[in-house]
Amino acid sequence: MDCKSRSSTCIAPINIAVIKYWGKSDEEQIIPLNDSISITLDTDYMFTKTTATIGPEFTQDSIVLNNEQGSGDGVRFQNCLSEIRKLAASSKHSSTVEKSTWKVAIVSENNFPTKAGLASSASGYACLVFTLAQLYELESHQSELSALARRGSGSACRSLFGGFVRWFHDSQPCIARPIAEAEHWPELRCLVAVVSNTSKSVGSTEGMRRSAETSKLLEHRVKHVVRDRIEDMKMAILEKNFVKFAEITMRDSNQFHAICLDTYPPLFYMNSTSQAIIQLVHRYNQIRRSIKVAYTFDAGPNAVLFLEQAEISRFASVFYSVFGSTPHDQFFRGKVPDLLDPTEDVA
Ligand code: DP6
Repeated sequence: MDCKSRSSTCIAPINIAVIKYWGKSDEEQIIPLNDSISITLDTDYMFTKTTATIGPEFTQDSIVLNNEQGSGDGVRFQNCLSEIRKLAASSKHSSTVEKSTWKVAIVSENNFPTKAGLASSASGYACLVFTLAQLYELESHQSELSALARRGSGSACRSLFGGFVRWFHDSQPCIARPIAEAEHWPELRCLVAVVSNTSKSVGSTEGMRRSAETSKLLEHRVKHVVRDRIEDMKMAILEKNFVKFAEITMRDSNQFHAICLDTYPPLFYMNSTSQAIIQLVHRYNQIRRSIKVAYTFDAGPNAVLFLEQAEISRFASVFYSVFGSTPHDQFFRGKVPDLLDPTEDVA
């Protein structure tokens, strides 16, 4: 390798939306129809690890994703790259300006099922942008990187921040900003039950395009539901009001999946195991005489369960007794603290 080549490796966590993003007002720029709120998981559990290498000897951009050669020409990948290169080209450091013209080789892998509705594109693009920013030694603010990650995948703009994060649909530029640090609510935990690790049949981008075109319920949600819900969720988080947080989370997940059914032709992301988990959570909360656990499902059948620390062992044993051994070794436990970690920076 040419002695001028440089590499950087970073990891980035997934984020789980508790108020969902579904539908765009601008597909090219990836501007959402509504604000969303998410929680960024701890990097100890589910993350993307990306190594980016640049060098004057590379003749084209390339990407290897989970050991498979991807398309270095992909529109979203190229959108992110060209924005990063623009920033590098305008740097006051001549070495960064020089590097902005070099091609890049990306190797990226997830430590969890990809495209199974577990926010892999969020951690993937957040990691890509962050790693490239490290590599080019950009002095960009996290919010600038948030806008760049958004060009790769909407939900990725939220993974640039740890803790509780809101993505604003009408801010200029369209970016996410933190609501509270993860340390604000350390008792809040999440469990991920991997029901299926196969890829979804209709990806989020296509699914939300179809919903935006055909679902009246999505129109209703955007006009009459989300705005108040965002404010209520923000208050629930700031007040650490678990009961309120949990109810809004479940209602929002349910409304998102109702929109999927209202889409024509309909989108089926949950399966019978997902439904059984929903029933179990409601039954559990009923027996506990208060809301102790909340579920949320993205565009896939896998459940993300929120609960407070004190409830984990009781709920986990009930879950195991109902679902047997299956989820045992697929059960990740996530804290919700801080964000992107540069693991090494090999100059
Ligand atoms: C259901 O961010 O994957 O997870 O912007 O088209 O790449 P694109 O979609 P993506 O959609 C995520 C949708 C969701 C809800 C959410 O994370 O808010």
